[in-house]
Amino acid sequence: MPSRVFRDRIVFDESYKPRKLLVRDMEASLLISRYKARLEEISGFTDVSLIYGSIGRVGIGKTTVAWYVGKNLEDITRRIGVNFKSIYINTFGAPTLHQILSIIADQLNLNISVRGSSAIEVLKAIVDHLYIRDTFTLITLDEFQSLLLSPKISDDDLYTLLRVYEEIPSKDGISRVSFLLVASDHRVMSYMRERIPQIESQIGFRIHLKAYTSSELKTILLQRAEEGLEPGVWDDYYLDMIADYFGEDKGGDGSARKAILALRMAAEIAEAKGATRIEESHVRRALSEYALAYIPLDELRSLSTHEILILLALTNEIIEKGEWTTTGDLKIKYEELSQHYGETPRGHTQFHTYIKNLSTLGLIDLKPSSKGMRGRTSIIRLPPEMPADRVKEVLESILLDRLKQRS
Ligand SMILES: Nc1ncnc2c1ncn2[C@@H]1O[C@H](COP(=O)(O)OP(=O)(O)OP(=O)(O)O)[C@@H](O)[C@H]1O
Ligand SMILES: [Mg+2]
Repeated sequence: MPSRVFRDRIVFDESYKPRKLLVRDMEASLLISRYKARLEEISGFTDVSLIYGSIGRVGIGKTTVAWYVGKNLEDITRRIGVNFKSIYINTFGAPTLHQILSIIADQLNLNISVRGSSAIEVLKAIVDHLYIRDTFTLITLDEFQSLLLSPKISDDDLYTLLRVYEEIPSKDGISRVSFLLVASDHRVMSYMRERIPQIESQIGFRIHLKAYTSSELKTILLQRAEEGLEPGVWDDYYLDMIADYFGEDKGGDGSARKAILALRMAAEIAEAKGATRIEESHVRRALSEYALAYIPLDELRSLSTHEILILLALTNEIIEKGEWTTTGDLKIKYEELSQHYGETPRGHTQFHTYIKNLSTLGLIDLKPSSKGMRGRTSIIRLPPEMPADRVKEVLESILLDRLKQRS
């Protein structure tokens, strides 16, 4: 039976590459035009450029941008009749010169036994092959810092590889190999200064990628939703909710990988529940898996009984209605719930003091209501990473404990 939620599941795979880059396209274009200009130079194609991220930030598009540059150059060169091959190597899994050269030889369909040859012989075969076919190649070395930190590759090896045009000149003197280095963060430059200073000083473009903001993530999520989900399954509101949760400017870690996975999980949860639309509870559940089912137990236990009642009333509202509720509606629910538990509801001023406190503790999201509602009403929800149903269970058990102690 075809899925009523997914149009194409592959769109959410880690290895899926969107045809068009809507975010980071500027960075990619810069690199593409630099390499393209080098292709047209008489002395040849000898550029080394660098993409690097920020410490501790993963899933921010480094590999994606590098892939896109290689892919675009293949398209462009095909159109202008230049032979070109983009080669991608994750050096994390290939930490010796021999392993790297063997991947290059393989990708170029070179008929040479890499095992039985020295690195120089293989490199020579590669350079000859490129000369004979008049083919240019861009070699992307991803996770480049791991290569620099590896004791398995010597400084000489690194020079031989990255300065192949000097070490093993082509028969016609035209170099046909350029590199795109991809590294996790700026420390790669000091590692390079230590091990291969001449190459560090010759790096062309250095492109620093920051963690994604929520509006960038929104664009990325929207593209995936349009490509991968059936129309009508997703709502902008929920894409915003995920984008806001992971956006660096909103306190998230700015990872596109996590944001895409969260959308995929929300869609899978919707599908598993037999729904044809992604709902608030699905998104919350997906996000909560990330926060390791984030329930701040100690904070909840330290709340006063009436704060717990307010929070419980809020979770009931969320479970019933989803999304935001108003402080007015919440107050009514709180009063009902208080009576149910045999407590006298607190008055207006005290209620608002509690709300403020809960907001300061980060247990609720509070914001002024938009136009159209009278008075100073605010709207309120649980933070998206808190799964309403689990919070409800916890709050009810805390309340029960307290009531037992009293009686
Ligand atoms: N600008 C973008 N547009 C569309 N998808 C993106 C973009 N940036 C990243 N992604 C997606 O996010 C996921 C992670 O991206 P990528 O692998 O490029 O990150 P990375 O910075 O290389 O991560 P790591 O630090 O783990 O190597 C991939 O699925 C990728 O398709
Ligand atoms: Mg990567």
